[in-house]
Amino acid sequence: MNDGTPRGPVAPVGVGLQYNPEVAEWFPFHQAGIDAVEVLLDTVIAPLDSPWTILPDREAEIDALVAGEPTVIAHSNYGAEFGFEPLETTAAVLRHVPAAQRFRSPWMSDHCFYGDGSWSDIWSSPVQFSRAEVSRLAERASRLQELLGVPLAHENAAYYVPCPGGDLAEPDFLAALVEKAGTYLHIDLHNIHTNVVNFGYYSMRSYLDALPLDRVVEVHVAGGSWSGGMYHDWHDARVPEPVWEALEDLMSKSRPGAVIVEVQGRAHSARTRELDPAEDAPLILGDLERAAQIWDRVYGPHSRRTTAVAAAGEAAR
Ligand SMILES: [Fe+2]
Repeated sequence: MNDGTPRGPVAPVGVGLQYNPEVAEWFPFHQAGIDAVEVLLDTVIAPLDSPWTILPDREAEIDALVAGEPTVIAHSNYGAEFGFEPLETTAAVLRHVPAAQRFRSPWMSDHCFYGDGSWSDIWSSPVQFSRAEVSRLAERASRLQELLGVPLAHENAAYYVPCPGGDLAEPDFLAALVEKAGTYLHIDLHNIHTNVVNFGYYSMRSYLDALPLDRVVEVHVAGGSWSGGMYHDWHDARVPEPVWEALEDLMSKSRPGAVIVEVQGRAHSARTRELDPAEDAPLILGDLERAAQIWDRVYGPHSRRTTAVAAAGEAAR
């Protein structure tokens, strides 16, 4: 345990799994003893030209999730809050804000993508890492966080090409953005790993060292695959060793509210395999267990939602 554990910007929740179409139907979310479920909003929110927040045929499922034990966290790949349309017309404001409030999500996170109104085919559209964009995006991010009423965290993206014209290194851009906007960070360690493998612009250590780690509210871990000469962040494999090593290092220097495992397969890319419950349930449970072991090693044995509740129950007997 790290006696000098930093205090975090949000209350600690623990370790969880992303809730997305590829695993939602078969993974035993309620039996796995997880602390958090992260709902991928893009798969459950209603179109912008409809009167609903959540798709009507997903309402009961989502309500059951929110009524369950694990903390529900709202997350998105693309809300277009960093795009060029008026902020008030974006999915971030029209769908993510009411959804996050309905989930009682302790924070909300979204990628540093431009996005647009279609929100269906814009992966990946990384923002330009420039001083000019820090100024423009900070204003929008600050306003969105005000509307959310909870911390807004920006997730670093994996990308196939960076946006041209930047004048800042990626981690310096993120550091400047959260400082100017008063917002927070969602660090996806596998996205960093993917960019390191494909481009080598930075190392995992130099990237993390350049960030204000006291602003980290959530961490993603995942696995990926090689295809067409590139390593892809497809969430279709076990979490690789460099990501586990970085997780323990990051957690010893910051205090995130949650570490979420992402597993998607074809929900992320049609070019990867279809997940197989018989093969992938043990894979997911193994990665969740390893993340929980790291959490407990760094923050102590009763520091996650489930272990704190269990310890309180024992003490009351
Ligand atoms: Fe992620």
